[in-house]
Amino acid sequence: TRRFLTIKSASVSPMAEDNEGTVKQQLSKLFETSLRMTIPDEPDLEPLVVKCTGKFGDYQCNNAMSCWAKVKGKKTEFKGPPSIGQAIAKNLPESEMIESCSIAGPGFVNVVLPNQWIAKSIQKMLERGIGIWAPKLPVSRAVVDFSSPNIAKEMHVGHLRSTIIGDTIARMLEYSNVEVLRRNHVGDWGTQFGMLIEYMFEKFPDWENAGEQAIGDLQAFYKASKLKFDADPVFKEKAQQAVVLLQGGNEKYRKAWSTICEISRKEFHQVYERLGISLEEKGESFYNPYIPKVLEGLSNQGLIVESEGARVIVIEGKQIPLIVVKSDGGYNYASTDLTALWYRLNEEKAEWIVYVTDVGQKLHFEMFFTAAKLAGWLPADEKLYPKTSHVDFGLVLGDDKKRFRTRSSEVVRLVDLLDEAKTRCKAELVERGKALEWTAEELEQIAEAIGYGAVKYADLKNNRSTNYTFSFDQMLNDKGNTAVYLQYAHARICSIIRKSGKDIEELKNTGTIVLGLPEERSLGLHLLQFAEVVEEACLSLLPNVLCEYLYNLSEHFTRFYAECKVNGTPEETSRLLLCEATAVVMRQCFHLLGIVPVYKI
Ligand code: ARG
Repeated sequence: TRRFLTIKSASVSPMAEDNEGTVKQQLSKLFETSLRMTIPDEPDLEPLVVKCTGKFGDYQCNNAMSCWAKVKGKKTEFKGPPSIGQAIAKNLPESEMIESCSIAGPGFVNVVLPNQWIAKSIQKMLERGIGIWAPKLPVSRAVVDFSSPNIAKEMHVGHLRSTIIGDTIARMLEYSNVEVLRRNHVGDWGTQFGMLIEYMFEKFPDWENAGEQAIGDLQAFYKASKLKFDADPVFKEKAQQAVVLLQGGNEKYRKAWSTICEISRKEFHQVYERLGISLEEKGESFYNPYIPKVLEGLSNQGLIVESEGARVIVIEGKQIPLIVVKSDGGYNYASTDLTALWYRLNEEKAEWIVYVTDVGQKLHFEMFFTAAKLAGWLPADEKLYPKTSHVDFGLVLGDDKKRFRTRSSEVVRLVDLLDEAKTRCKAELVERGKALEWTAEELEQIAEAIGYGAVKYADLKNNRSTNYTFSFDQMLNDKGNTAVYLQYAHARICSIIRKSGKDIEELKNTGTIVLGLPEERSLGLHLLQFAEVVEEACLSLLPNVLCEYLYNLSEHFTRFYAECKVNGTPEETSRLLLCEATAVVMRQCFHLLGIVPVYKI
């Protein structure tokens, strides 16, 4: 039997000894000590520490109520939650991260962090790099299965969402020192290949020499072959035979298959390259040879039964079973996914396997995750690892609130979308006279960074499970919660630093941050909360949490800059360092969101 791990320290990074954990974790440790002293009979109490919403503190500990529920009725010195709260505060160990404590309502313990401690933590980050703020996660290796388009079929907007969301999740985990296997689970093994191959043989007898060039537009080719498949019974018969030959390993058919795959692959790569996305293809076909053994194992466990000629796994509470061998003896999407999961757990030793697809596939994932639990591959308790997660997302809608399509009611081609975003940005920059100010290369690069970044951010800022409306006008607006606005905010900070004429690297070593005014302090505190926000975004697999943080950061900065003059004041050094820290954190957010920052606009 497999031992399930509960918690495991993340792999050691070069910065590991500098990384003291998030503010929340550090406070939780202190409160844990206090709770042991306050309620010695309950040694397993988990500290409940959260950010304060009110203005009585920065963080609060919410344990008093539940502690009272435990000691009430027993012999106790406490009269109620408030007195427990008082004791928790009193028993807190001495620490330089606590300025003061107060008790509110039914025993909430509010903590105020010292300005100096906040300032010192930010300075430490500036000296040693943003890596010291990486959250520590309970896994060391994960698979993120994302993008995953289907060969010869359109790579549509849904795949764009999967690509963008999956890449961000992978980046956030990588930043947290998790080794991420970025997997492109392309659909390269369906029955459609029979018809595609036969059609290629017919249309391009010389395919072996001219295959890729001759086919050209694979989508059109797909359509034409489908037409023939539906209309011509002799062709249909041949196509079905072709599937058998292909799956049986016939050399000529394998070669034809890989010719077709190669065309799609080149198309996909254009999109990945533009978006700066790296991922490794392990398509459905890769797992095919492993399927029989995996199913045999499940069969031996008594999990697979016969149903109407098919072989299935019965899932309690579901109307239909999970089909793993079709009645014609062929394998399907589920047999491949079960096998891929087996491979990822046993061969790749992944502890967390994350799948990014549209919400329409929810049932499929629920079903085979449950099957894996039945088989004992995964623990039933979802707090334990190894674990699987389905990261689902909603539809992309057009202006008419219907599924996003182009005028010809065709699916939108991704490359065209990206082109348009860039073209519009470039036009805007040219209008603002940048073509005269910058080199042609700069203009290209900046238009690209802003345009592609805007497309990504417009997607990521929404809670992924909801549908969102695709609108160039909205996403390219330089006001409101858009990447364009954020790029401006970042570029402005860079220009403040540049205009000071100071060497910021030197200031990092010689200067000190002093958080005098309230706007300086709240900016500082927000900066410090970066680590726990990334942690939350990772654990909940919600990139919008990070977007919200980034947007709020720019708002904090705006308030700071409105109140605090930077250049030419006695506080200049401190404030420049605060500007630099904001820019560093903003850039790290951009990086995690897959957005290339620009330093001038
Ligand atoms: N190719 C599938 C599609 O386009 C997505 C595959 C997702 N990954 C997986 N392991 N099922 O819908």
